[in-house]
This record gives sequence, C-alpha cells and structure tokens, in this order.
Amino acid sequence: MTIDERLASTGFPLPAIREVNLALHPTGISLGLGELRDFETDSKITESLIKSLNKNGMNYCPNAGLPELRYAIANAHGKEDENNYTDENVIITVGVQNAIYSTVKTLKKLGAKRILIPEINFGIYKKIPLEFGLKVETYRLNPDYGIDIDHLKNIINEDDIVIINSPANPTGRVLDSSEQTMLSKLFREKLKNGYVISDEIYGKLVYEGEPFVPFSCFYDRVITVSGISKSGASAGLRVGWIITNNKFLAKAIVSNNATIISAPPTANQYAAIPVVTGETAETLKRYNEILKNNRNNAIEFLKKMQIPYVKPRGSFYIFADLKSIVGEETKRFCIDTAKKENGVVVIPGGAFGANSKIRISLATLKLIDGMKRLTEAVKSYTHK
Ligand SMILES: Cc1ncc(COP(=O)(O)O)c(C=O)c1O
Repeated sequence: MTIDERLASTGFPLPAIREVNLALHPTGISLGLGELRDFETDSKITESLIKSLNKNGMNYCPNAGLPELRYAIANAHGKEDENNYTDENVIITVGVQNAIYSTVKTLKKLGAKRILIPEINFGIYKKIPLEFGLKVETYRLNPDYGIDIDHLKNIINEDDIVIINSPANPTGRVLDSSEQTMLSKLFREKLKNGYVISDEIYGKLVYEGEPFVPFSCFYDRVITVSGISKSGASAGLRVGWIITNNKFLAKAIVSNNATIISAPPTANQYAAIPVVTGETAETLKRYNEILKNNRNNAIEFLKKMQIPYVKPRGSFYIFADLKSIVGEETKRFCIDTAKKENGVVVIPGGAFGANSKIRISLATLKLIDGMKRLTEAVKSYTHK
C-alpha cells in the first residue's frame, strides 16, 4: 500500500473534545471550554507581552527557554517545596502538552517501558505514550475520584512512569496533603527507579478547602509540569514548563524537545513572568470566586435533575453521570445537544475513559443559562 492509499483509508480524527465543540450551533452556549476564555486576562500579562517586543521578544531564546522565566519558576517552586532550584532545573515548553510529550519521549529513550495513568484521564496521557510505543495501564480511582492506592500498589513496578493529575481534568478532584503523603510513601517503597510526572496545570485553581501543594513537597523522583494556559487565562500563548531536581534529566529533555520545537516563543515567555511571580494573585482570586459560584449553581441544577456527580473543589469542571438518562454512551446525546438551535455543549465522558459521564465546564459567564439548556435537553431526551 502506498502513502496516498493509506491516507485515503486512515482517519486522523480530532480529539473528541474538539469534535463536540465544533458541533456548536451559532445560538448555542458552551459548557465545554477547557480554558478561561470568557474571563479577562490580567493586564500585567498583556503589558509584559507588549513590553517584550522592545526587548528581545522577536529573537530566538535558548533551547531551554528564557532565562528570566526559568529563574522565576525555579524561585517560586523552590519556595513551595524547599528545594534549591536554578534555571538548569527548568525547561520552558509550548504548553503543558509539549511538556508531557518531550518528557515521555526522553524517558522512553532512557529505557522506560510502561506508564500508569488514572482510569479517568486527560486523553493525551494515553495517546502520547502510545505514540512512543510505551505500554499504558490505568490505575483505579475511588468513587470520589481519589486514587485507589491499594490498586496502584498491586500493579506498580519499580521502573514505571506514573502520571498523576491534581487538581484533575475532568473530575475537579484535588488530592489533599494526607492523600499525597500516603501516595509518596507508596512511591518511596515501590518506585525505586521510575518517575512520577505530576501535572499541576490547575494548581492555582482551587476554590475551596486546603490549597493545593505541589507533589514535589512529598516525593523527589517527580517531574512537575505546569503552565499559564489555565491560571493565566492565556492558553493561546502556549507557555508551559517542566521542573525537576535532576539537572541531567532536565538537560536530556531540552535536547529531546529541541528537535520538536527548537525553542519556545520568546515574547510569550515574558507574559508568563507575572503569573509565576504571583503578581496576578488578585485576578486569580476573582477567577476562583466565580468558579466556586458556578460550581454551586451547577450542583443545584444537577440535584434537580437527579443526576449523580462528585462535588469538585478545583480545576474548573464537574463530572456528572448520565447513565440513568442516556445509557452507557453519552457521545450521541452531546453532539445532538450541541447541534440544536439554542443548544449547549457538554463534553462526552468517553473522551476521558468514562462513557456514561459528561464533563461540564465551569469556565463560563453563562453557567446558569447553559444549565437551563442542559435541563431542557435532558427533559426532552427523557420524553423521547
Ligand atoms: C490536565 C491537563 N493537562 C494539560 C493540558 C494541556 O495544557 P496546555 O494547553 O498548556 O498544553 C490540559 C488542557 O486542557 C489539561 O487539562
């Protein structure tokens, strides 16, 4: 078979999340967003971006990223986990997606064989390792979406790579410090030669209870990935980063990412500095207030519809179970509801490995209207 023949018979589909978002009718409301698009970006971010153009924003930066931003990240993360990081511990990437991609690529080249991911997960945790020929297995979550530590203990090998994600997409679950302590104990006992990749992209978006603490406060064989896409309401700038206490590993990742991106966009990295140094803290507080209010309102609607959910306290999603209404697979329901006039977008749980569920995004200023439309959609589905 030729390349063109294969091309004609092989689909390269867009991620399911994109597919449903694209189905949105012009009169529709989106409760499908994975970014704070409706929220105003802090002016310190935009000012820093504009100023960069009179500095060296239009030039290449080092492969590992802008030194000013790397120092800022080393400083901020070191204050939280009490490690002595320098710029050599930090790699700037094109969003967290690129951070995970280059990390997995590097670990595979260093001999990693298997990766463990949560059973309900952000889709790339599976897709990226599969692209590199790694074996992917899932570890179980408890009914409240916390990690089932006993199950993880039973399946883990000493040289595995384990991805954890707190606050989580799509469940909104935040691991508290006692859970992180238990998890780190397990890793110290069982994960002698492997690594944990901790995706902390929603770390600053916790709107209730104990604030999130980086996992590197509990365990040292951890590669932390984070960025400004969510907490900076600036996903389009595509700035993410990796921080590890192992400088040799950092250097290896820089080398492996250089063949993908060469270097990250210089100007955009200046925009990330105020987020990292905490200058946008007041704005973040406002985002979290809106998200909490939206979470409370969404729950009221779900209760009225008798739809089961687990109450989230971080990221900006609520994951609800539509099994009693639409059955085992929600994708058709989601596409139909998105396409309708005055419809609404919610994301089918199949995109995260949980077919009977839907992900409702709280990242909207039209939450109440969106939930009213979802109520209508559920009602008309029930009366079909
Ligand atoms: C858990 C998680 N990790 C990573 C990403 C990707 O982030 P970025 O846009 O910075 O590549 C997302 C985006 O939705 C996410 O939800």
